[in-house]
This record gives sequence, C-alpha cells and structure tokens, in this order.
Amino acid sequence: MPATVVIGAQWGDEGKGRVADWLAAQSDVVARYAGGDNAGHTVYVGEQVFKLHLIPSGILRDQAVCLLGNGTVINPVNMVKEMEGLRAAGVDVSPGRLLISTRAHIIAPAHIALDAAGEKARGADKIGTTLRGIGPAYTDKTNRSGLRAGQMADPEAFADALYKHTGAANERLVRDGNDPLDPQKSAEEYIDAAYKLKPYLADTSAYLNARLREGAVILCEGAQGTMLDIDHGDYPFVTSSSPTVGGALTGLGIGARWVDRVVGVAKAFSTRVGSGPFPTEVEGELAARLRGTGENFWDEFGTTTGRPRRCGWLDMLILKYARDVNGFTELVLTKLDVLSGLPEITIGVGYEIDGTILDGIPVTTADQMRVKPVYETLPGWDEPLGSARTWNDLPKAACAYIDRIAELLEIPVNTVSVGPERDQLVQR
Ligand code: GDP
Ligand code: IMO
Ligand code: MG
Repeated sequence: MPATVVIGAQWGDEGKGRVADWLAAQSDVVARYAGGDNAGHTVYVGEQVFKLHLIPSGILRDQAVCLLGNGTVINPVNMVKEMEGLRAAGVDVSPGRLLISTRAHIIAPAHIALDAAGEKARGADKIGTTLRGIGPAYTDKTNRSGLRAGQMADPEAFADALYKHTGAANERLVRDGNDPLDPQKSAEEYIDAAYKLKPYLADTSAYLNARLREGAVILCEGAQGTMLDIDHGDYPFVTSSSPTVGGALTGLGIGARWVDRVVGVAKAFSTRVGSGPFPTEVEGELAARLRGTGENFWDEFGTTTGRPRRCGWLDMLILKYARDVNGFTELVLTKLDVLSGLPEITIGVGYEIDGTILDGIPVTTADQMRVKPVYETLPGWDEPLGSARTWNDLPKAACAYIDRIAELLEIPVNTVSVGPERDQLVQR
C-alpha cells in the first residue's frame, strides 16, 4: 500500500477528516495536497473535537509525519494559530513532525480582501466562498505573481515582498471601490508567523519520494470535494484548486505509479454550502431533519464558516461522476446513522431535462441547474446505528441501502461510518 488518496465525492464535508483519521492509523505520512484553510475537517477523539483547517488530520496519530504539499495555499497567521491550538491540546506539532512545502503558495492579506471584494462585486451571483482568500491566492499562483512559502526562509525579505504585494493589490481594491489595506500592517502581521514557520519548510516532494522508495505508507488527504474541483466541478461555483486525484499528484510531486488505492468519501445524503446547482436538494422539514439543529457538532453547519449547509438526498449521478473522475477503488459511506428514523430513503438515480432522461450529469452548469432528479425509494429503518460495530449489527434496510449504492456504483462499499467517534466504523 504505497499511497492512498482520500477524496470527497460530493461538495465537501463528506467526513474526509474522519476517514483520513481512520486510515492515518496505518500511515507513515499524511499529506494535504490542495486547498487551504477553507477546509474544515472534524475529528472526534475521546471527548475532544478537533477542527482542522490546514493541518492534516494525521497529526492526531502520533506515528504519522504530516505535511502540506506544494498544491496547498497557506495563510501563515492562521497556520500558526492552528498549531498553537493543537499544541495546547497536547498534540506534537514540532518541526520534523510537520513539514511545509517551500513551493506551497501564501495567502496574503490582500488575497482575503480581494476575495471579499470579488464576492461583493458578484452580488446575487456570488459563489459563497469561505472568504479565506483562496481564489485570489491561486489566481496569483497561475498568474506567476504569487508569494511562495519558501520565501519565509528569509522573514525580513518575505515581509518586504508582502509590503509590495499589498501595495500592488491596493490599486485594484481602490479601483473597484474598496478600502485599501495598510501595507506596513500586512508585513508586520506576517513576519512573526514567518519566523515561527521557517523551521518547518522543506522540499516535501523530495521527502515523499524518499519515503516512498523506502516503503513508507503515504496517505494523501483531500480537501473540498469533486464537485468543487476547478476543472471537474460546477464551474464557477467551485473552489480554485484540484481536490480530485490528479491534484494529489501535482499537489505533492509524486508519480502515479505509487497510488494504488483511491478512497471516495460520500455522505449517506448530500450537502452543499455556498451557491451552485444541487439537483437533489430538499427544503423545509426534511432539510431541517437532515441538517440537525446545530446542537451536535456533526450537524450540518459549516466547520469553517458556521453557515447552515444545504441538504438533500444522495445523488448517484454525482457519485458515478466522482468515481470516474477519480478512479475510486472503493467508497466509504459516512453519517448513515443520521438516516435512522426516516420512513423512506430516497436516492437520485437519474436526471430529466426537457423530457429527456439523462444517465450522467450534463456538461454545462446551466443545464445542471435545470435538471430534475429521477428518484428511487427504499424502505427506511428505525434503529439507531451508533452502536453498530459489525455488518450484522446493521438493520436489513440499511444494508439494502448500502448494497443498492454499491450496485449502482459498481465499486465496493465495504466501510460505513455510523458516528463521529473513532470506533463508530463498520466494515463488511
Ligand atoms: P470533511 O470536511 O469532509 O472532513 O467533513 P466535516 O468535518 O466538515 O463534516 C463532517 C461532520 O460529520 C463532522 O462533524 C464529523 O465529525 C461528522 N461525522 C463524520 N462521520 C460521521 C458519521 O458517521 N456520523 C455522524 N453522526 N457524524 C459524522
Ligand atoms: P472541506 O475540506 C465545503 C466551497 C465554498 C464555496 C466554494 C468556493 O471541509 O470539505 P473557496 O473559499 O474555496 O473559494 O469557496 O467552495 N468550499 C467548501 N465547501 N467543504 C469545504 O472544505 C469547502 N471548501 C470550499 O463554500 O461554495
Ligand atoms: Mg469540512
């Protein structure tokens, strides 16, 4: 098992952190390859709820070295805060345990301001971003005008570069009717973080390749989800990185030959936070039932932004698409316990558009906005699932639901999560 990639099969928040934590127990290295602190990965250990935004979930497994690959974007101030939170909880985040790619890009203060300005300018057509500066940071990267993490090796020069970066961005901010930022303040905010992060900088691609050659097990922890992918998602209602399998290779600088397991993670129903198409979305009481009230930490409110998530039924066309885009070797189903008590479980198995039935998602986002789902209904079950530990503990109707998903997907669904705790996992 050289490298395993964990990827969200829907619109993010599928429970990747929980699944990565499970797989990290058997991994030597856990690596984030895309995105930044727009992610929110929740892991429940004992009585502690960890909300990881940038640092891989593997940090909660003592034997795993964790790293942020070149494909990620890093807000140094938020990174330091996250490290301090983990340290306070007794987690080892010392250099050597945690590495940052010198090639990763920096989210500068101006990126955050530009993210907010962009959303404001889009008005009703806003994407609903996490306002973490993700889009503008990746824009600078592809425009070849970005700042790289390696620049933190010289914190004074890094602060100087930030000063200039803020000045240049101010021209745009002011032109579009926004307040300018104070370049001196930007530089001062980041220099302290740069001094703290400098010891963590490394050539993470070289590190991973050396570890792979010596037989280490690498876990690549995806953030976001397939439908938020810049190429394969519902553009423009996407993030600006590649959460899909190709992103793991470019975002870490490792070869395809090492990846032998691609684990798709899907929630047993669907959620989306932010704008964009969601054919199987439901409203009213049922949405509130799936979302939960917010009193449990696993209820459907954003880990990063606190926004209530839109909720709906499972959409098999989305899952089939994600299977194909990523080459899933298996699917892990999470939050099956949330469906207990529903009289019927509905699955989206097709789409209808202009009187035509589709068996795959349409090419354009505009058409994806218009499709009407074709549903199939299965019997529900009343039993709570939280204490299930073996397949035999699952009610027949729950097994039938899982089996139907596996049948439609034509890949194994042999691992099911029935609660946020580490041991609330059932394997066939
Ligand atoms: P991620 O972004 O994909 O890591 O997912 P999030 O952490 O944003 O959201 C998933 C939420 O569901 C978290 O609060 C998890 O603790 C929780 N969770 C994961 N698996 C299960 C499960 O099987 N049952 C329940 N009830 N909660 C789960
Ligand atoms: P995890 O890793 C859910 C969504 C935002 C918005 C769009 C673009 O926890 O699954 P961005 O700030 O990235 O420019 O926002 O993408 N989004 C997520 N939704 N889970 C996430 O991460 C997300 N990261 C970004 O809500 O619709
Ligand atoms: Mg999340």
